[in-house]
Amino acid sequence: MQCSWKAVILLALASIAIQYTAIRTLTSKPFQLCPVPSPQNCGLLGGPETESPMEGRAGCDDYPYFSFNTSRKTHIMVLATTRSGSSFVGQLLNQHADIFYLFEPLYHVQTTLIPRLSHSRNAADRRVMLGASRDLLRSLYGCDLYFLESYIKPAPANHTTDKLFRRGASRALCSQPVCDAFGPTDANVEEGDCFKKCAALNMTLAADACREKRHVAIKVVRVPEIGDLRALVEDPRLNIKVIQLVRDPRGILSSRIETFRDTYRLWRIWRATGRRPYNLDLSQLTVVCEDFLGSVSTGLSHPHWLKGKYMLVRYEDLSRNPLLKTMEIYDFLGLSMDKSVEEWIQTNTRGSTELSAKHKYGTVRDSAANAESWRLKLSYDMVEYTQATCQKVLHQLGYKAVKSAEELKNMSLSLVQDKTFVPFS
Ligand SMILES: *[C@@H]1O[C@H](CO)[C@@H](O)[C@H](O)[C@H]1NC(C)=O
Ligand SMILES: *[C@@H]1O[C@H](CO)[C@@H](O)[C@H](O)[C@H]1NC(C)=O
Ligand SMILES: *[C@@H]1O[C@H](CO)[C@@H](O)[C@H](O)[C@H]1NC(C)=O
Ligand SMILES: *[C@@H]1O[C@H](CO)[C@@H](O)[C@H](O)[C@H]1NC(C)=O
Repeated sequence: MQCSWKAVILLALASIAIQYTAIRTLTSKPFQLCPVPSPQNCGLLGGPETESPMEGRAGCDDYPYFSFNTSRKTHIMVLATTRSGSSFVGQLLNQHADIFYLFEPLYHVQTTLIPRLSHSRNAADRRVMLGASRDLLRSLYGCDLYFLESYIKPAPANHTTDKLFRRGASRALCSQPVCDAFGPTDANVEEGDCFKKCAALNMTLAADACREKRHVAIKVVRVPEIGDLRALVEDPRLNIKVIQLVRDPRGILSSRIETFRDTYRLWRIWRATGRRPYNLDLSQLTVVCEDFLGSVSTGLSHPHWLKGKYMLVRYEDLSRNPLLKTMEIYDFLGLSMDKSVEEWIQTNTRGSTELSAKHKYGTVRDSAANAESWRLKLSYDMVEYTQATCQKVLHQLGYKAVKSAEELKNMSLSLVQDKTFVPFS
């Protein structure tokens, strides 16, 4: 019995190695497709070099008959970390009529593979997670939702489950034909209502709904760095566009202390007593900064494989200027922003605090006025420590360090420097 867990990890690593080989083989070979003049194949004819919907269409010039309806599915990924405003960005996509949105499906991978560790730093664990995650994401972008079932506990029977994580955050899964509890006039179903009123989720119907939509968007907070996604980004069957969301690590820390009360208990003790507990898990902070640094360094160095596929968004910019930033995001995706997205922004960024208390993971309270409110919540000690630990990434992302408690608490002085991150195209 002693060795059984090691055996499991070894097995898992072996299976990842096999996956890797499979992916390598696949990506290194040109993608063979019969040149059938069908809309589905059209975008693929140009191979991985012609990725945008516009270019995809140009590739179809030989078949003008089809050219009006040939844009490929876009596979959108919101790459973020917890408490960085990813629910907000997810909603900006979820509200769009042509987008099928899934909220953090990798949750199921993590709870199945690494049940006890919420943010494992063990390198072997991370590799296991990553291999499985890439596989799952690839399937989900292809609307193969059955693949997810192997990670759901208890295992769904007859392709039906009531255990899909945060199902209610996905509009398509709370409306017809997937759920009959609400009519087309129930525009914005509350997440809790969806959970209560919809019957168990029929994965077959969910997959059909996914295929019906033009695009698929997935929110991911369990992949450390953009570099970990290279195999997916380069997969010629996919048309991935990554929106990487970052936030001031000081703000993330503050938000996590409020939200994950058990996991961040020692940080609360530090804040309350002014003394750093000797057994504080500093990696809860350092991992965020290391992952951001790795990711952002890769993203901003413009490697060829990310060309046209990577956009860096600072949460603070989105909070200040939600409509404008959202337009930029849709621009990058090559999609037009629809009315419901705009309306959702209008109703959810007014800074109303009434709704917020109810929703631990709500998006309302994270609106503009709150982007820098962490400054009033963290002690100067903690801020100083974070600044020392995350110095490089703060600088890279344009977050100003403070030199005194007075400066920290002086809200007329913003710590977010103007900085533009032009999508690499
Ligand atoms: C374009 O494709 C969509 C989805 O496949 C389909 O519903 C629609 O009818 C098509 N439009 C035209 C003009 O063929
Ligand atoms: C699954 O479907 C079969 C055939 O319709 C039925 O007999 C069985 O009871 C179902 N299982 C569950 C767990 O609902
Ligand atoms: C799920 O939906 C499919 C397609 O409509 C249907 O054939 C199947 O019977 C449904 N499954 C259950 C368990 O109701
Ligand atoms: C806050 O910062 C502003 C801008 O630098 C400065 O003019 C003001 O004196 C500061 N207020 C306090 C109380 O330090």
